[in-house]
Amino acid sequence: MGYKVAIVGATGNVGREMLNILEERGFPADEVVALASRRSQGTEVSYGDKTLKVRPLEQYDFSDTDICLMSAGGNVSKEWSPKIGKQGCVVIDNSSAFRYDPDVPLIVPEVNADAVAGFAKKNIIANPNCSTAQMLVALKPLHDHATIKRVVVSTYQSVSGAGKEGMDELFTQTRAVFVADPVESKKFTKRIAFNVIPHIDVFMEDGTTKEEWKMVAETKKMLDPKIKVTATCVRVPVFIGHSEAINLEFEKPISADEAREILREAPGCLVIDKREDGGYITPIESAGEDATYISRIREDSTLDNGLNLWVVSDNLRKGAALNAVQIAELLVERNLISPRQKAA
Ligand SMILES: NC(=O)c1ccc[n+]([C@@H]2O[C@H](COP(=O)([O-])OP(=O)(O)OC[C@H]3O[C@@H](n4cnc5c(N)ncnc54)[C@H](OP(=O)(O)O)[C@@H]3O)[C@@H](O)[C@H]2O)c1
Repeated sequence: MGYKVAIVGATGNVGREMLNILEERGFPADEVVALASRRSQGTEVSYGDKTLKVRPLEQYDFSDTDICLMSAGGNVSKEWSPKIGKQGCVVIDNSSAFRYDPDVPLIVPEVNADAVAGFAKKNIIANPNCSTAQMLVALKPLHDHATIKRVVVSTYQSVSGAGKEGMDELFTQTRAVFVADPVESKKFTKRIAFNVIPHIDVFMEDGTTKEEWKMVAETKKMLDPKIKVTATCVRVPVFIGHSEAINLEFEKPISADEAREILREAPGCLVIDKREDGGYITPIESAGEDATYISRIREDSTLDNGLNLWVVSDNLRKGAALNAVQIAELLVERNLISPRQKAA
């Protein structure tokens, strides 16, 4: 008997990618159910060569569903994830609602797979922020080798990180610029077409943004509470793929060549690092791919043990949907769940 999997937010950027990835990776699902808001009732989404009719979340009974991939924003998660968990269905939650709850494991399988065992307290597992996920895939093997003391990261985040409305806004504004129509900003706080915006999520009291704070808090929870992290998160006019310029300070010496060799062997990483024109990855090339790409690996001569990296990944895949499906696979591989009795 296989698993029954529900996807909440199945009409969204991440939800659609979850459907693709479940099918591509041959997840052992007997049944996949697509859920979203009432607005989408009856809309069709693809799952492999099947077409699923979207059903409203509010009318769905989770009592015989094994896994719920939740991807409909923080408010929906806050209301629904605990209720679904109490019904015995394991929720893999993409929002930030439960990431910092000590009773909820926050997991990137390449980084802290063993922590998943703690899920049973609430039946919720949190999926990290997209920028943190790809950064930690690259940092974990380096940390294991030479112990990272401090991280300085600047992100270049695509508009798909702000959902389908973010993608629509970049498209509409770009077209408006070309046909000399007025450019309206609804989703982003300033124009995103032909511009960059140093502001993602809300401002905190100390002047950082919540997106920047998430990178700090999530790195400490998943990798090492001793690591110091400072982040600047920037939205750029790219449809898919987040990029990060990362400066690292280590306790022990590590050369660029050593880092390159370590990253070549590391799970989830793909090194593309030729010191020549075009010998690096850009976000367009990462779209639709599973890997976290690492380029521009070089020593930072201003530090005793310092390195610089350029890290790029598809934010809808490793940053969200792929990571969530990998967590579901982890539950199955480690026999942490088994299919429940299904209603006749
Ligand atoms: N995009 C990323 O890179 C990324 C990365 C990590 C985490 N996340 C998180 O993933 C979640 C979804 O992001 P997204 O980019 O897929 O957003 P999106 O494209 O805007 O899609 C939102 C989805 O949520 C559904 N939804 C909204 N309100 C709902 C409700 N009341 N009940 C049920 N479903 C509801 C929408 O359904 P309708 O079509 O019916 O409105 C849609 O399917 C967010 O929590 C986001 O923070 C996103």
